[in-house]
Amino acid sequence: EAAEKAGYEHFMLKEIHEQARSVNDTFSGKLSELDGSVNLEELNISNDEIRNIDRIEIIACGTSLNAGLVGKYLFENLAGIHTDVDIGSEFRYSNPIMNENVLSIAITQSGETADTLAAIRSCRSYGCNSIAITNVVGSSITRDANNVLYTHAGPEIGVAATKTFTAQLIMLYLLAIRFARAKGTLNVNEAKDLLVNLKRIPGQIQKILNHKDTIRECAEMFAKERDYFFIGRHLNYPIALEGALKLKEISYIHAEGFAGGELKHGPLALIEDGTPVVAIATKGHVYEKILSNIKEIKAREAKVIAVANVDDTEIEKYVDWVLRIPATDELLSPVLSSVLLQLLAYYTALARGCSIDKPKNLAKSVTVE
Ligand code: G6P
Repeated sequence: EAAEKAGYEHFMLKEIHEQARSVNDTFSGKLSELDGSVNLEELNISNDEIRNIDRIEIIACGTSLNAGLVGKYLFENLAGIHTDVDIGSEFRYSNPIMNENVLSIAITQSGETADTLAAIRSCRSYGCNSIAITNVVGSSITRDANNVLYTHAGPEIGVAATKTFTAQLIMLYLLAIRFARAKGTLNVNEAKDLLVNLKRIPGQIQKILNHKDTIRECAEMFAKERDYFFIGRHLNYPIALEGALKLKEISYIHAEGFAGGELKHGPLALIEDGTPVVAIATKGHVYEKILSNIKEIKAREAKVIAVANVDDTEIEKYVDWVLRIPATDELLSPVLSSVLLQLLAYYTALARGCSIDKPKNLAKSVTVE
């Protein structure tokens, strides 16, 4: 086992580090910056069929669900396709409004999650086309979906998903750009810009990894807290959910993620003097909005840890800690913020002496209902 960990103390830390490469493996050979196109050979859906998609139905559980929630913003923003995201265990017992122009997308790193499998099987009975996004070659989901997109992140041993999550995000970018090009909702130059920025992501992940000591210091500072909150807006909302999920999975701290605008509808009541709140405040069209949410919580004496861009000099005026990510396209920044939040969760759990690779009561994949 020590050999497999390649010098890292835990598989999770090794897998977090592998993202500087695995993200590249997900998009490798699929991008053409010359004409802004994404080549997904394994996808058997024609441009006409893409143009006929009425709605996308994403089905997933756990961390994959959070990737799906990012996917909703991508498909809607880039390709103009209405997208719903449902929890596998809920979808299978609902009465969804489906027809043959709905495209169902199952996201599951293991390809074995029982609820996601059952949900995607039920989609068949409505006659809709399906895509599985998975990391495991030949897994059960690959037999149940009409199309399979492999994320190629390599084996993931740590129970808490890390590199498979960022790989799912990358695959969703590829798919959304592919759909947007087919529909003409993204022009060649816009697509080229996104692809150029996408190619920079692995190097930018490496930069975050190179500065992990600051994240560790911050994690240790708050490692004894009982509650932790995460807020984000727009695409950063699902990343707040994922940041909270990662922390609770491995550190056993009570953690919750919220959309920044929802704070005043309840969660503010939970903020006490010193409660840590992670605010994902990367540059984008909702930057000013998250800043005003930060001011609301600071007024309640919370300790705010901001995830912000390297060139943001304004943010330090309002928060207690700033953890930085390189600047990128607003749509792509969730990949970078996720890596940072994985490290925050990891170092918190380490400081608390938790069983990081095998958290209590959790399994790598849930193959029973
Ligand atoms: C379990 C794992 C999570 C994972 C979820 C969904 O709960 O502990 O890390 O996100 O299952 O797994 P899947 O394989 O469907 O992505």
